[in-house]
Amino acid sequence: MKEGRMHSAHLPHLLSMLFLSGATLAAASSIAATPISQVTSAQWDTLNSQVGGRLFQGVPFAKACFPPVTNQTACAEIQQHYTDGTIRYSFASGSTNTEWETCTTNGDQCLLDDTDPTNPLATKLPCKIGSISPYYIDVQEPSDVSAAFNFSLKTGVPLIIHNTGHDYKGRSTAPDSLGLWTHNLKNMSYNPSFVPTGCNGVSPTAAAILGAGVQWGEAYQFADNHNITLVGGSDKGVGAVGGWLQGGGHGVLSNTLGMGVDRVLEFKVVTPDGVFRTVNQCQNQDLFFALRGGGGGTFGVVLEASILAAPPVTLQVTLISWADPSIDITKEFLTILINNTVSLAKAGYGVTATTELALFATPLLDATSAAQAMKPFTDFAQNLIDNKVTGASSVTLTLPSWLEFFNTFILPVQSTNGVPNILGSRLIPTSSFATSDSQAQLLDALMAGVSLNPAKFIILGTTPVNFKPDGKTSVTDAWRTSLWHITTETHWTWNSTLQEKTAAFATAAKTVERLRAITPDAAYSNEADVYEPNHIVAFWGTHYNDLLKVKQKYDPHHLLDCWQCVGWKSQSSRFKCYIPTSSIATPQ
Ligand SMILES: Cc1cc2nc3c(=O)[nH]c(=O)nc-3n(C[C@H](O)[C@H](O)[C@H](O)COP(=O)(O)OP(=O)(O)OC[C@H]3O[C@@H](n4cnc5c(N)ncnc54)[C@H](O)[C@@H]3O)c2cc1C
Ligand SMILES: *[C@@H]1O[C@H](CO)[C@@H](O)[C@H](O)[C@H]1NC(C)=O
Ligand SMILES: *[C@@H]1O[C@H](CO)[C@@H](O)[C@H](O)[C@H]1NC(C)=O
Ligand SMILES: *[C@@H]1O[C@H](CO)[C@@H](O)[C@H](O)[C@H]1NC(C)=O
Ligand SMILES: *[C@@H]1O[C@H](CO)[C@@H](O)[C@H](O)[C@H]1NC(C)=O
Ligand SMILES: *[C@@H]1O[C@H](CO)[C@@H](O)[C@H](O)[C@H]1NC(C)=O
Ligand SMILES: *[C@@H]1O[C@H](CO)[C@@H](O)[C@H](O)[C@H]1NC(C)=O
Repeated sequence: MKEGRMHSAHLPHLLSMLFLSGATLAAASSIAATPISQVTSAQWDTLNSQVGGRLFQGVPFAKACFPPVTNQTACAEIQQHYTDGTIRYSFASGSTNTEWETCTTNGDQCLLDDTDPTNPLATKLPCKIGSISPYYIDVQEPSDVSAAFNFSLKTGVPLIIHNTGHDYKGRSTAPDSLGLWTHNLKNMSYNPSFVPTGCNGVSPTAAAILGAGVQWGEAYQFADNHNITLVGGSDKGVGAVGGWLQGGGHGVLSNTLGMGVDRVLEFKVVTPDGVFRTVNQCQNQDLFFALRGGGGGTFGVVLEASILAAPPVTLQVTLISWADPSIDITKEFLTILINNTVSLAKAGYGVTATTELALFATPLLDATSAAQAMKPFTDFAQNLIDNKVTGASSVTLTLPSWLEFFNTFILPVQSTNGVPNILGSRLIPTSSFATSDSQAQLLDALMAGVSLNPAKFIILGTTPVNFKPDGKTSVTDAWRTSLWHITTETHWTWNSTLQEKTAAFATAAKTVERLRAITPDAAYSNEADVYEPNHIVAFWGTHYNDLLKVKQKYDPHHLLDCWQCVGWKSQSSRFKCYIPTSSIATPQ
């Protein structure tokens, strides 16, 4: 990943279709709060001393490349790694989807041209702080967080929690805010016989205890070192304990081993009343429910989570790919995929598919039965190879561990990090695959999107089909009755106009609209349309009222609020950089 941006041909990322969306959330406007600029230096000094001197000023990631350039080495390093994540993670100001570093509504930004980070035109604009926090705390201790809550309550300065900055909905940045940066909470430990605190009588299980700053790439290596498997996502930079876990968490192994929220055994969290709490099935059960799917940035600042470990897995893997995303090939592939999805799901397969590749992995089959299950796909690929389709290939392997699978098949196709990028999401229910009519409808909806260029989608067969849930999570139950989570992707460039950005949001809504029309109201909160209509039902289904009670109990002063989060106050000035929902409305 060191050589800069991945080529789009490699990305498990693509499509966009859609039509519509009468998103009808209230437009963001201001409520009174002390502007951060009026906080006195004595107040900052006091806060700094309460957090062990770990208060620091936010600096835009690319600032070193804007005039006056005083350190050419620092700038060259940023240019070289502008889209590969690694360096960006070490900046509290860094966001993977760079629109959230900017203030979309007024155009303030400090971005390079992600297609050519040396483009001098980008650095001719003034470097503005945008949605980056003017101050951050490098969080180490529970008291760091309670000091921040005290400060926010007293001054009215909004707080944000920034872990890796991977959020697609801008929930880890806000203009004029104080940032709680959890990145350096990197502790990891393994306990082969973990019992949640205070749960006498609960059988011990193997668990990994991960600090809130741990990223999946680190957790996978740690798990392998301890001969265990952890269920995580596809990007090495996403946090294992932050937004991914608290909003759901799906991955290739979720089919058999469940979602992130299914496997968390305990959280350590500071709630907005400043209290450091241990949260599990035996104490603070209401918070445990809320943190298992209610979303990050809402109920408290999690400092650590204990995650159920699985034994090592042997995976049967098939990757087919082709570099010709033509309509005919795409349609043929999707027809086969839709027709085989129910049997693949039963056989434990995690599936990742785009218009140029499909990756299948299951821990349930042996090599012989896997070859049988994959036959429709290996035949399809062989046909492409025989017809000399550009880049056509097919590989089938048995891999002895999740880490080997991840390193071999997932690392080479990591998403680009450092581009203004927005998504749409739809959960596709089992019923869509039940009859030839419903299959045809699904194919039509997908193809409608494919024909909209530049159309990008990823089909993720990562729902918890073969996992028996405990019934105490707060993600929409639609996850339990769906076979696919589909994401669509829309992006813009460093110099797009407000009008172009507004149009991109409308396109993002359109890309899922045909799918919305044929599916229940269900989407993944972490990867959804920023303007998801009816988001309460789509993200949480029947669990919303219970989640709202937890929010009101622990955060009555709204010290933690984020876009389309449980109990959010949409009029808060913290949302002033979001284009108002009313501006995005698209024709029916
Ligand atoms: C390239 C890419 C690939 C992805 N792949 C997957 C995937 O395979 N599976 C999947 O399920 N998702 C995936 N996601 C989506 C991912 O789950 C979300 O982006 C998620 O919000 C990231 O969480 P984070 O903590 O890493 O990021 P951040 O942007 O730092 O935080 C996200 C949200 O969580 C809150 N938060 C963070 N830390 C804490 C904490 N300690 N306590 C309380 N709140 C906290 C933040 O305030 C914010 O609201 C992917 C995203 C990207 C960009
Ligand atoms: C310049 O930046 C490089 C890379 O970030 C850093 O190692 C070096 O210390 C910086 N030099 C000065 C003089 O600040
Ligand atoms: C927060 O404020 C409360 C009440 O004023 C005080 O008791 C507590 O010590 C403060 N916490 C920190 C970490 O400053
Ligand atoms: C991390 O682990 C070290 C060593 O066990 C411990 O001293 C420290 O308190 C831990 N830090 C956090 C934030 O848990
Ligand atoms: C890893 O764990 C498995 C079962 O959990 C066990 O059979 C195997 O011997 C272990 N391997 C090592 C190297 O400890
Ligand atoms: C769907 O799969 C069945 C076998 O499972 C096969 O008989 C049928 O031809 C397939 N239909 C299509 C359209 O591929
Ligand atoms: C953005 O910059 C590119 C050159 O880098 C230029 O071709 C394009 O027209 C610009 N777009 C706008 C909207 O200014």
